[in-house]
Amino acid sequence: MNILVTGGAGYIGSHTCIALLEAGHSVIIADNLCNSKREMIGKIMDIADKEVTFYEIDVSSAEAVNIIFENYKVDGIIHFAGLKAVGESVEKPLNYYYNNIVSTMVLAKVCQKYGVNRLVFSSSATVYGNNKVPFVETMDLLPTTNPYGETKAISERILTDIAIANPAYSVSLLRYFNPVGAHESGLIGEAPNGIPNNLMPYVTQVAKGKLEKLRIFGNDYPTVDGTGVRDYIHVVDLAEGHVAALENLTEGVHVYNLGTGKGTSVLELVKAFEEANAIEVPYEIVDRRPGDIASCYADASKAKRELGWTAKRDLLSMCRDAWQFEKKYKE
Ligand code: NAD
Ligand code: WQD
Repeated sequence: MNILVTGGAGYIGSHTCIALLEAGHSVIIADNLCNSKREMIGKIMDIADKEVTFYEIDVSSAEAVNIIFENYKVDGIIHFAGLKAVGESVEKPLNYYYNNIVSTMVLAKVCQKYGVNRLVFSSSATVYGNNKVPFVETMDLLPTTNPYGETKAISERILTDIAIANPAYSVSLLRYFNPVGAHESGLIGEAPNGIPNNLMPYVTQVAKGKLEKLRIFGNDYPTVDGTGVRDYIHVVDLAEGHVAALENLTEGVHVYNLGTGKGTSVLELVKAFEEANAIEVPYEIVDRRPGDIASCYADASKAKRELGWTAKRDLLSMCRDAWQFEKKYKE
């Protein structure tokens, strides 16, 4: 299939482009490079040893997106493009609502215009809010604590309503848990701008000596050791989940958790990182981070049952691959 990958130069999108190419699909990337670099396109082609087509465009512009559909027969879209920094979304809500929601609506409209019925959307476990773990797809969504999370819940709702009104549509809403790690080549991975917000890139930068020590946000949660519990998933497993979702799309709207189903605490992750890489990660315990929940992990059984997909890579490989990328990566 010819797949349009929006946000394909980003962290999850780039790994997914490789998985798509390896599965025999053709890839057209649309990315405005607001949070990625052009060199990523060359790296994707080098790793997969295949060509991709690249459009440097903003996918919230219908005019720009139309050009792709005039030039190519697109069979399906995987829509990653979006802004994703939770804290920034609180400071600049309009940027987040505009970018993330308008781009979803533009793509849905272009799909209608050109008769493209297959769409896979990047959602997030954040839409479950503070539900009881494990999170199951059938749960009512609870309000999230930030505009970023709201853009995911609203985009899910928009795509669901469109699919209900157009029975030929096949839409998959993928709720990712905590993607970490990097491609085994060490050539691509997560390279956040500035000081990282997320745990794994913070840990790798401490290990590298770029940051002095990890600050662990709270050790008084009702969890195994008091630190926050999350469902970390290797980004390559996540990428393969997208190929499975795309290849198993059926009419209607389908929601899938993409996680491992296993919760890991912050201290357990630090210990695994030290063990996997034989390197020390100094840390201190500080206050809880506002907006954090105690535990977040998936019931991952639906994706296994319906897509035949399950995460294969363990926490040690996530830590090894994240560290391998960090060591090689130069800003
Ligand atoms: P990323 O920032 O690395 O990738 C997003 C890409 O989209 C970037 O290359 C950016 O330049 C591009 N982009 C943003 N707005 C655009 C626009 N209007 N037009 C064209 N390109 C645009 O982020 P990621 O971690 O790869 O996340 C991909 C998707 O998955 C996002 O929608 C994100 O919200 C979602 N998600 C991410 C996580 C996570 O922890 N990384 C978890 C759950 C969901
Ligand atoms: C993980 C755990 C922290 C940093 C975020 C978004 C979510 C999704 C994924 C997009 C928590 C602790 C972290 C640090 C720490 N993104 N921590 N010290 O918050 O689960 O999810 O990214 O959809 O929407 O909210 O991920 O990696 O920030 O935190 O102790 O320096 O690590 O408190 O328990 P989070 P995270």
